[in-house]
Amino acid sequence: MKICVLAGDGIGPEITDQALRVLHALDLKFDVTEAPVGGAAYRALGHPLPDSTLKLARESDAILFGAVGDFSLDTLPRELRPEQAILGLRKELNLFANFRPALVYPELVQASSLKPEVVAGLDILIIRELTGDIYFGQPRGIRTLANGEREGYDTMRYSESEIRRVAHVGFQAAQKRGRRLCSVDKANVLDTMQLWREVVSEVGEEYPEVALSHMYVDNAAMQLLKNPKQFDVIVTGNMFGDILSDEASMLTGSIGMLPSASLNEHGFGLYEPIHGSAPDIAGKNIANPLATILSAAMMLRYSFNLAEAAERIETAVKRVLAQGFRTSDIFEPGAKKAGTIEMGDAVLAALS
Ligand code: IPM
Ligand code: MG
Repeated sequence: MKICVLAGDGIGPEITDQALRVLHALDLKFDVTEAPVGGAAYRALGHPLPDSTLKLARESDAILFGAVGDFSLDTLPRELRPEQAILGLRKELNLFANFRPALVYPELVQASSLKPEVVAGLDILIIRELTGDIYFGQPRGIRTLANGEREGYDTMRYSESEIRRVAHVGFQAAQKRGRRLCSVDKANVLDTMQLWREVVSEVGEEYPEVALSHMYVDNAAMQLLKNPKQFDVIVTGNMFGDILSDEASMLTGSIGMLPSASLNEHGFGLYEPIHGSAPDIAGKNIANPLATILSAAMMLRYSFNLAEAAERIETAVKRVLAQGFRTSDIFEPGAKKAGTIEMGDAVLAALS
């Protein structure tokens, strides 16, 4: 099992370190290679996604990714900004299906800003399309109009085949869970999203046992706060999925808890926490490593078919929460305050 570790910027190295410690404790044989990515790669090699890094990623069986983003590089031309590393990996490796589960652990019900009865027991899965939409659509740019004023423009695009393949992923995920799929779009305003709705409905005819519903994204944003437990699986486009998954993370108490898997059609995957590089807390041993540790568990399950080992990690995380360990993002009075490393220690101890 060849794992390529791309730690990246900010808290990326600290959190991937803890996930690696957990993986190494499992008595499985991993071959781990590391490569620079994001701002760190720009500083070392002049590009956020150097060819050497992309090559290592391609040659691996799975990628464990930390985070990218560095405010001090925000003035670089877009193609050299740290974020281009993750966007480039998703596009180059065709990782179109992004799984973002949002699970509320009983111990963290109080950490959510919502009422306990609204979030207790919540278990939803957001499937975000990851290689299309306004993120990648051409043309885009900033141009100067005849009157001398500048205008920014981006293009939302989805082809039928792009919609169809992620819809299949959504229906198949729903089959394995509560058999309810909600497709989120903005078909009332955008032509792209009208096509989205049509194609998802067509695909739905192949899955009669899954109850399909459609919801406009603005309403979905509201319903996630009002009654999130109405959802089982949500399938949506790249930009709406970006926004809704951050929102969903707050139902669970902290964005520091949410793992993700980004898969291509062959099941090759990149695994990363949904949060960013958090440069403000980097290097202080306070970041929550659990989202990355849980991403490693998703890697074992999806890329290596090691469901039991994945469950061992997930059970250890539950134990650690039950034991009262909390990083500062989920801290509450009376809990055991843990730093990044101490949280890793606690998970290691709970593995056995
Ligand atoms: C995410 C992030 C990325 C995105 C950024 C870092 C480019 O917000 O994975 O959700 O917008 O997709
Ligand atoms: Mg995001």
